[in-house]
Amino acid sequence: MKESLVLGLESSCDETAASVVSGGRKILSSVVATQMDLHRKYGGVVPEVASRRHLEAFPDLVTEALREAGAGYGDLTGIAVTSEPGLIGALLTGVSLAKGLSLRLGIPLAAVNHLEAHLYASELDREPALFPALGLVVSGGHTELHEMRDWGSYRLFAATRDDAAGEAFDKVAKLLGLEYPGGPVIERLAAPLAAQAGRFPLVRFKDGSHDFSFSGLKTAVRNAAAAGNLSENERDLLAAKFQNTVVEELRVRVRAALMRLRPKSFLMGGGVACNGAVRSALAQEAAAFRADFRVPDPRFCADNAAMVAGLGALWLSRGRAAELSVSARPTGSLG
Ligand code: KG4
Ligand code: ZN
Repeated sequence: MKESLVLGLESSCDETAASVVSGGRKILSSVVATQMDLHRKYGGVVPEVASRRHLEAFPDLVTEALREAGAGYGDLTGIAVTSEPGLIGALLTGVSLAKGLSLRLGIPLAAVNHLEAHLYASELDREPALFPALGLVVSGGHTELHEMRDWGSYRLFAATRDDAAGEAFDKVAKLLGLEYPGGPVIERLAAPLAAQAGRFPLVRFKDGSHDFSFSGLKTAVRNAAAAGNLSENERDLLAAKFQNTVVEELRVRVRAALMRLRPKSFLMGGGVACNGAVRSALAQEAAAFRADFRVPDPRFCADNAAMVAGLGALWLSRGRAAELSVSARPTGSLG
């Protein structure tokens, strides 16, 4: 049978992306146009500005993704698009384009959940994951731990009750006077100070739940910062103390899940999975429980369309094509 060749489109937040993936796993091209510079002066993503920029960026990105892959429209066997969750206007730009292409080219459309795609990124350019698996999505909008029986089969183990981990990085950066997005800046400042910075107390829920919560941590940083005019070094130490706490919050929950579920693999994705301290702490946990640690290269932890094309190809191979009436949805969890 001919290998599938799927064009993926991603526009859920502030990255416009297009990619061509063959056989659901092999990345032939992946192009991303980030809007970070555009949103930086507002300290966060402005939804209407994001939608307009996606509209402008898509035509050239799609042409570039096809060119890099050495493919033409006529070679494609399917179109995949992120349809949920995300900013509704931003999502709609990708969904509308994908529907138009599917209709015009007479090839099936796959609607992809962005969180699931972040986990699927760990399947690209490598051998398939073994199940059962544990999946951690740590992005700007979500922090969720799932028990995975297969792609498409999830049971929630823990989720955040307030801020997502990436959102906490962004908010803490803002209150320390650092630029958006907060994750990469905080990681850079924290790196030389992590060993001496200590950490804030960890969150424990009385009901025994393993859920995450990051809003108290943000308040702790705000209170510490309000104590006086921070020197640069004090600010960096506070950033490192914050990052150490996030790492530890993730570590204890992942450890509890590994202990309970004893999965064969541990998958992680989302922008916060770019963070070196997070990666090495969770790699240690996975190794301690003999779970195969599968985290994509940082390029594919952040938003991209290869993860969308790959998962879309899997859905199409399983007969899960979307109707042309499919729409974008701002919310949407796994399972
Ligand atoms: O997955 P992503 O690109 O977009 C969403 O789906 O939300 O994640 C973006 C988030 C932002 O909050 C950003 O601050 C965070 O990922 N992030 C990081 C790092 N790089 C990006 N957080 C910690 N350390 C990083 N190196
Ligand atoms: Zn994302």
